[in-house]
Amino acid sequence: MYSRTLLVAGAALLGPVLGASWTATPFNPASVPLAVRTPYLSAWLAQGAGTALNDAWPTFWTGSILGWAGYVKVDSTTYTWLGVPNVAGPSKATQKSFQFTSTQSIFTLSAGPVDLTATFLSPVEPSDLVNQSLPFSYLAVSVKSNDGNSHNVQVYTDISAEWVTGDNSLVANWTTTTGNVLTHQVQLSSPSVYSEVSDHTQYGSAYHATLNTVGATWQSGQDIVVRQQFISNGALANTADTNFRAVSNNWPVFGFAHNLGTVGTSATAPVVFVVGHVRDPAIQYITANNGRQDRSVLFWTRFSTVSSAISTFINDYANALARANAFDAKVKSDASKISSDYADIVALSVRQALGAIEITVSKDSTGKFNTSDITTFLKEISSDGNVNTVDVVFPSWPIFLYTNPAIGKQLLLPLFEYQATGQYPNKWAVHDMGSSYPKAVGHNDGQDEAMQVEESGNMLIMALSHAQKSGDNSLLKTYYSLLDQWTQYLIQDSLIPAEQLSTDDFAGKLANQTNLAIKGIVGIAAMSKIAGIVGDTARASNYSSIAASYVQQWQGFALSSDKTHLTLAYGNSSSWGLAYNLLADKLLGTNVFPKSIFDLRQFQFSVPLIRKADIAHRLAETQWYSSHALSYGVPLDTRHTYTKSDWEIWTAALVTSTSVRDLLVSSVRKYAADGKSSQPLGDWYETADGSVEGFRARPVVGGHLALLIV
Ligand SMILES: *[C@@H]1O[C@H](CO)[C@@H](O)[C@H](O)[C@H]1NC(C)=O
Ligand SMILES: *[C@@H]1O[C@H](CO)[C@@H](O)[C@H](O)[C@H]1NC(C)=O
Ligand SMILES: *[C@@H]1O[C@H](CO)[C@@H](O)[C@H](O)[C@H]1NC(C)=O
Ligand SMILES: *[C@@H]1O[C@H](CO)[C@@H](O)[C@H](O)[C@H]1NC(C)=O
Ligand SMILES: *[C@@H]1O[C@H](CO)[C@@H](O)[C@H](O)[C@H]1NC(C)=O
Ligand SMILES: *[C@@H]1O[C@H](CO)[C@@H](O)[C@H](O)[C@H]1NC(C)=O
Repeated sequence: MYSRTLLVAGAALLGPVLGASWTATPFNPASVPLAVRTPYLSAWLAQGAGTALNDAWPTFWTGSILGWAGYVKVDSTTYTWLGVPNVAGPSKATQKSFQFTSTQSIFTLSAGPVDLTATFLSPVEPSDLVNQSLPFSYLAVSVKSNDGNSHNVQVYTDISAEWVTGDNSLVANWTTTTGNVLTHQVQLSSPSVYSEVSDHTQYGSAYHATLNTVGATWQSGQDIVVRQQFISNGALANTADTNFRAVSNNWPVFGFAHNLGTVGTSATAPVVFVVGHVRDPAIQYITANNGRQDRSVLFWTRFSTVSSAISTFINDYANALARANAFDAKVKSDASKISSDYADIVALSVRQALGAIEITVSKDSTGKFNTSDITTFLKEISSDGNVNTVDVVFPSWPIFLYTNPAIGKQLLLPLFEYQATGQYPNKWAVHDMGSSYPKAVGHNDGQDEAMQVEESGNMLIMALSHAQKSGDNSLLKTYYSLLDQWTQYLIQDSLIPAEQLSTDDFAGKLANQTNLAIKGIVGIAAMSKIAGIVGDTARASNYSSIAASYVQQWQGFALSSDKTHLTLAYGNSSSWGLAYNLLADKLLGTNVFPKSIFDLRQFQFSVPLIRKADIAHRLAETQWYSSHALSYGVPLDTRHTYTKSDWEIWTAALVTSTSVRDLLVSSVRKYAADGKSSQPLGDWYETADGSVEGFRARPVVGGHLALLIV
């Protein structure tokens, strides 16, 4: 008996070398996205300060292991290049370089006399939403000689059944189909629709596929059996293990091998593997009268079977790579106009943000897909698993505006449709579409997490922003009365916001929050523009004057007594916070806040300098507070020294000083590259020492694209 957990714990202790020995471009992030496309296809390499691709198992975003192993046999020697399979014999390939772009993570390892390049490509396809919706990801492997001689090379990879459940004691079954494509399909024997265990889905199937080219072989079976077969023979047995059993019972794995034959000094054409996870239905959605609708992922509208989708996907690799390279280059070029630090942050954020969504379609009464009814769902990964949380869609919003505003509309639609049914009892906007992904079943009891001003303002701002970017005014027209209802609420409660939560709910409730009032007032101003767009000139001018009058009064409440900065809460001149909601005023062009506010010293000078007095004060209070305090950015507000990376970047997008902008951007870059964590990028972190405060793999890093949309 052996325990993989122990082995992995051992690898975690021994593997990571401080100061990685390979070249990293642009840097080694805490965790490397490997196959990140949906809330349930989310495989990462927990890299920390320097864990190579073959120092640890890939993990789900939660940190639970996803068995994914890779060998390469060179002449008669086998090397491990992916994962930490525990079969005696193989040597360990040496990682030479690592690079990430917006869509790809590329590793090169030397395996004795050959170099192997593994490209993990998770496509980002905003111009074709069917392509974007495909829950598959590529692994492409190419090999070349590094000693001038030719070598005989075979490549192997497998996945385990850990890809289908969060409970490894459950029984899985599997099949392998052969044809032009070899496909292993794995699922639970007793699936449970719409349910999760430890954030893993408990139904649907995992897929592992490769082209059935000459020299391709396959096998399913116990991990050590299948892997030993490759090590001994350089090929698999084309046999299936039909003893269906628990995921952890002699760990069944699903492997492929390719014989590359004689390899010289030019790189071989890549052998391509596809991993994926498909469920149908994908989302349970509330309709009128507390009805339920099953929604399917959009790709089904183009493909009638999973095998046709996989076949098209795998055969399209070369084109998909070309599209990905073009997308990466565009993002890099746009972001590099700010700085190279900024381009790095953006590249690390793209897959993480888009990996939280699923694009879906309904069926009509005859069972045909209704392509007029496409909506997108987002999982509030790691913080609470809610569906389409408004104040998570909001910070993420820049990536949708940048890539394709239609995705933004599709994220808002369920919220509008649900509240238009009248089932949600509160007069403000709902917090989310359901407590537990993928059940978008609303909150008919009105007991969702109350963020009254926050969510009402967010909905108004996003609705107008979508219309402005897309030219599509349909949300504004169709849901005008809901938008007005939320505006009425903001007129009551945003100038003097009651004691309530903002999106930064971990900081607790607070009355009279300056930044929350900004959101509410911009929301009213947004409704003025919306009214103008739909031709309701009376309301447009009424709301415009209300917003203007609120800004006047707000300045009296919100400025510090010395008029140098905005307070965190009215009347407390020693408090302050990142007033990131001002960006919405700039984004929408509502321009209700005067230039004098954007010109405050707070936004003009290096913020840590004006914070010095306060820091000295805190230093005196708390000895642990090191002299490196704030070396990772500006705290969210005066209650704590932690911050949010998304709000750092939102703030960077609104300040008028380039040096403050660059300070904020570079602080986030420094945090993302500091090697102190090994989890997918956490947006909530400590500015004093760059450690993670909480949260991981959340879509709000889509907000890191804020500088690309204003
Ligand atoms: C979508 O993917 C298909 C292959 O499935 C490809 O042929 C097509 O070019 C892609 N569409 C776009 C717009 O990228
Ligand atoms: C595997 O389990 C599924 C339920 O997920 C069942 O529908 C299927 O028939 C089983 N397949 C085999 C080969 O036993
Ligand atoms: C298709 O969806 C649209 C948008 O939700 C809806 O208005 C229409 O009635 C639906 N069509 C059918 C046939 O169900
Ligand atoms: C909020 O601010 C207003 C205006 O300054 C003030 O009248 C009110 O007392 C404050 N409320 C709280 C709870 O501090
Ligand atoms: C402006 O809107 C407010 C809030 O709905 C309302 O109370 C007021 O009567 C309106 N004023 C005019 C002139 O319509
Ligand atoms: C004012 O803000 C500071 C910094 O957040 C805080 O320590 C203090 O308790 C606040 N004062 C009041 C009266 O709320």
